[in-house]
Amino acid sequence: MDKFNQIDVTHCMDSLEGLKQMPSDFVDCCVTSPPYYGLRDYGVDGQIGLEKSPMDYINRLTEVFMEVFRVLKPDGTLWLVIGDSYAGGNKGAARYPDNAKKWKQGTNKGTVGNRTAYKYVTDCKDKDLIGIPWMMAFALRERGWYLRQDIIWHKRNPMPESVTDRCTKAHEYIFLMSKSSTYYFDSEAITEPAKTKPIVGNCTAHRYGGNKYTKDKDVFFRTKSENAYDNKGKRNKRDVWSVSTSREKGLHFATFPEQLITPCILAGCPKEGIVLDPFMGSGTTAMVARKYQRHFVGFELNPDYIDIINKKTQVTPYLFV
Ligand SMILES: C[S@@+](CC[C@H](N)C(=O)[O-])C[C@H]1O[C@@H](n2cnc3c(N)ncnc32)[C@H](O)[C@@H]1O
Repeated sequence: MDKFNQIDVTHCMDSLEGLKQMPSDFVDCCVTSPPYYGLRDYGVDGQIGLEKSPMDYINRLTEVFMEVFRVLKPDGTLWLVIGDSYAGGNKGAARYPDNAKKWKQGTNKGTVGNRTAYKYVTDCKDKDLIGIPWMMAFALRERGWYLRQDIIWHKRNPMPESVTDRCTKAHEYIFLMSKSSTYYFDSEAITEPAKTKPIVGNCTAHRYGGNKYTKDKDVFFRTKSENAYDNKGKRNKRDVWSVSTSREKGLHFATFPEQLITPCILAGCPKEGIVLDPFMGSGTTAMVARKYQRHFVGFELNPDYIDIINKKTQVTPYLFV
């Protein structure tokens, strides 16, 4: 049995190289956060994120996600967490690749200086928001992915910024993408409490000027037949998720908050299914997958993270048959 048929394992290698060796239609969903463009130096040769231009970065990631497309089952989904970057000057020094060699595991301090890479951006002026998430989403849509939703991760505790000419950035995108037009999505598994109790009433069209909603959009009147669809005080999950950034210190500095990816895994992968993360980092995807009786497969280029992942997941890899 080939090692790329294994599950509950994180392969220490370049994700594109590894994905190419995986069987087609193998995993149920993919939950991942690739390195952001020009933001961090993970200290390993071959890492993604330090390309000379945003297009180079997008093209490289597109290659990876087209392999993800192949290994995903036909009803599978991709949950892609991706942040934006600003085009900056060339005042500081990214110092890549010297920096990468110096910061072997030390990416906790590895923020890339003033992003030398951006000097190659031709269509962005200094200070422009590049629009990386949407560039990525459109590139994947063009290649066949269904772009189903842009979920906003509202960060309750964003990184403070010293800017005074714009607001502090407090969100990132989670793109929900699918391989087919219909796909596995367990909406019941991620319902949220309805904010206000539904009020059962008669048709209120005449009472509210033809609109059955009151001024408070969360309070609404329903006819008895509509009430039959009420899910016991629960409602369909909304597309803005307020989650604090991870407080995990000292391991890896771009760790997913567990709470952020739990709904992705619960809605996107059936029990005993397989969740893929091609950029495993400290292993949050693997840990959450195991917590909810799902399996995982991952790739991570930096060998220093593999021990962390193994400690977090505490599983023995076994062969998938
Ligand atoms: C944003 S972090 C992922 C963090 C992860 N979600 C977590 O919860 O810890 C991106 C990871 O991708 C890894 N990486 C960068 N280039 C890679 C490549 N070509 N193949 C595999 N992993 C890579 C980096 O070492 C880094 O750990």
